[in-house]
Amino acid sequence: MRKKYYTLDELKSYRQSLKQNNSEITLVDLGAGSFNKPTLPKQVRVNTIHKRSSHSEKDTELLYRLVLHFQPNHILELGTCLGVSTLYLAKANKKANVYTLEGNPDYAALARKAFIQYQTHNITLIEGNIHQTLKIAMDRIPSLDFAFLDAHHAYEPTVQFFKTCLAKINEHSVIILDDIHWSPEMERAWETIKAMEEVKQTIDLFQFGIVFFKPGQVKEHFVLRYMG
Ligand SMILES: C[S@@+](CC[C@H](N)C(=O)[O-])C[C@H]1O[C@@H](n2cnc3c(N)ncnc32)[C@H](O)[C@@H]1O
Repeated sequence: MRKKYYTLDELKSYRQSLKQNNSEITLVDLGAGSFNKPTLPKQVRVNTIHKRSSHSEKDTELLYRLVLHFQPNHILELGTCLGVSTLYLAKANKKANVYTLEGNPDYAALARKAFIQYQTHNITLIEGNIHQTLKIAMDRIPSLDFAFLDAHHAYEPTVQFFKTCLAKINEHSVIILDDIHWSPEMERAWETIKAMEEVKQTIDLFQFGIVFFKPGQVKEHFVLRYMG
C-alpha cells in the first residue's frame, strides 16, 4: 500500500492559500518558460502565477518521494517561483541543504515568507538571474546530489545550466529536468543531454526527464508512464 505522508497534507494548505491570493505582483521577463502560453500583463495575480507555474501535487509528490528515496545532502533547484516545489524538496530531507534560485524579486519574497511559515530551515534562496547566480550556488555546493531544473525552458539555457551542474556531480547524483517535451527546443535539449558522455541512464516520464550518472553500466534510456 502507498505510504501516507502528513507533510504532504500540510503543504496542501500552502497551495490552498496561493489559490486564494488575489494580490498583484510584478512579472519579470527572464526568458521563456511556462509563461509562454498567453502573454501576461505586467501586473499579475498571485493565484494566476500559481496556476500557471507551480507544479501539480502529482509532480511535487514525486519530487518528495525521490528525495526521500535518494536522501541527497545537497539539492539545487533552478526556478523557485512561489516556493511550492522547493518546500516539497526541503521537507523530504530536513538534513539536506537546499539551494533554490529565482530571478523575480516578488516571487522570491513570497517564497521566503512560505519557507518561514512552514518552518523549513534548510533552504537558501539565491535571488537574481540564474545566468549569474548558478555559479554562486555551485561554489557553495561541495557535491551536487540532486537537482531540479525548472527555470528557463529553452534549448541554450537548459543545456548550459545542465553542463554547469556536471562540474559537481557524483556517481549517485540525480538530475531532473522539467518539460522535456514542452517544445521542439526542449525535445532537442533532452536529446542533447541524453547523448552526453557523463549521462548513463535516463528515465523519460514525459513531464520530467530523470538523469543518472552511475558509471560502469551500459548507457540506457527508459520511457515510463507515471500515473502518480
Ligand atoms: C515554472 S516556474 C518554477 C516553478 C516551481 N519550481 C514550482 O513548481 O513551484 C519557473 C521559474 O523560473 C524563474 N526563472 C526563469 N528563468 C530564470 C532566470 N534566467 N533566472 C532566474 N529565474 C528564472 C521564473 O521567474 C519562474 O519563477
